[in-house]
Amino acid sequence: MTGFAVRPDGPARPTVRSSGSLLVDNIGELLTNAPGAEGDPLGLRRDAALLIEDGEVAWVGPARDAPPADRRIDAGGAAVLPGFVDSHAHLVFAGDRAAEFAARMAGEPYTGGGIRTTVGATRAASDGELRATVARLRGEAMRQGTTTIEIKSGYGLTVADEARSLRIAAEFTDDTTFLGAHVVPPEYADRPDDYVGMVCGPMLAAAAPYARWIDVFCERGAFDVDHARAILACGQAVGLGVRVHANQLGPGPGVRLGVELGAASVDHCTHLSDADVDALAATRVDCMCAEGGHTATVATLLPGAEFSTRSPYPDARRLLDAGVTVALATDCNPGSSYTSSMPFCIALAVREMRMTPAEAVWAATAGGAAALRRTDVGRLARGARADLIILDAPSHLHLAYRPGVPLIRQVLHNGVPQCPQ
Ligand code: NIG
Ligand code: FE
Repeated sequence: MTGFAVRPDGPARPTVRSSGSLLVDNIGELLTNAPGAEGDPLGLRRDAALLIEDGEVAWVGPARDAPPADRRIDAGGAAVLPGFVDSHAHLVFAGDRAAEFAARMAGEPYTGGGIRTTVGATRAASDGELRATVARLRGEAMRQGTTTIEIKSGYGLTVADEARSLRIAAEFTDDTTFLGAHVVPPEYADRPDDYVGMVCGPMLAAAAPYARWIDVFCERGAFDVDHARAILACGQAVGLGVRVHANQLGPGPGVRLGVELGAASVDHCTHLSDADVDALAATRVDCMCAEGGHTATVATLLPGAEFSTRSPYPDARRLLDAGVTVALATDCNPGSSYTSSMPFCIALAVREMRMTPAEAVWAATAGGAAALRRTDVGRLARGARADLIILDAPSHLHLAYRPGVPLIRQVLHNGVPQCPQ
């Protein structure tokens, strides 16, 4: 069945949903993220089955009670989990920065200065070239289990180039983010106030019809806290949700600014003070739901960036122990983290950030959904979108235990098997 995802004033994007009923049967380990017993945030079920109707999960239960269906997929005793929700990616760009990566591996520090190189290449690219890159990376991510992805602009940095970046991004996702405040482009180097005025004025007006979110790189060398606050407030005023690139390269005010503005997520969180952690923990929303609550502002950790910039990893344990909701995402971009692989990020989070495999898988699914304020994805319960992964493994533990191995046997998106696998 084909429908259209339409936002007011936004583009129309075809959505393919499954038709008829489809039973995924003989599931050895099913992760629902619908919490069961205490200490089981993954809502783990053994010997389970799952029924899909109209692109949604219609039933979950013991395999022996499975209802009849038009079609059946035999999971063969494998693990099944919700599709990954990658809540932070920069896919609209041209060129690559492999030489910059090689220089870093030889000892050069990462400063974010290379963003301007990608801005030049992106401005020079045609729409078709940009669209082809997004399609390639979106396909790559899907084959690795990512069924929901956020895509940012931020390599155009002119009114026309930011608008077209978001227009192209919106062809691939509902979660588009306006990042006109990525860096101050060279032509505004001597007048950053003018650039901020332009971002809040004509650039936001051109970008907003294609965007759900607004983001700012709040960091020394990019945007200071006053500029960041002004830009995010302008975005909020036209209905965009707030996210912030914060505390990546050093300590700073970005995380607390995000909390102040009610951001859905503050991303990177590599250099945090006690006050930052306390501010995030204080956004906890307790609810009567089975999850027992979460923080309204999620800390999204991007270990691919620390890997590719050879930097210290964020202290995930400190955040988790303080009760902060943590998401994992790829930060896929040509500079600091050119990976589209959520399994790679899970493996890094477990090995380098001391998250348990269960915490890391939850953060890559339900955590990402919380960071995007989505309740339809990141879980496999009645009414959720039928986005799921069948692993080539008996347990989710294998995602970190077998790093670098292609364990994604099959992906269903809106209940539709994705080909080729
Ligand atoms: O999230 N930190 C800012 N933006 C990206 C890096 C982009 C780049 O280096 O091209 C990030 O790491
Ligand atoms: Fe980023």
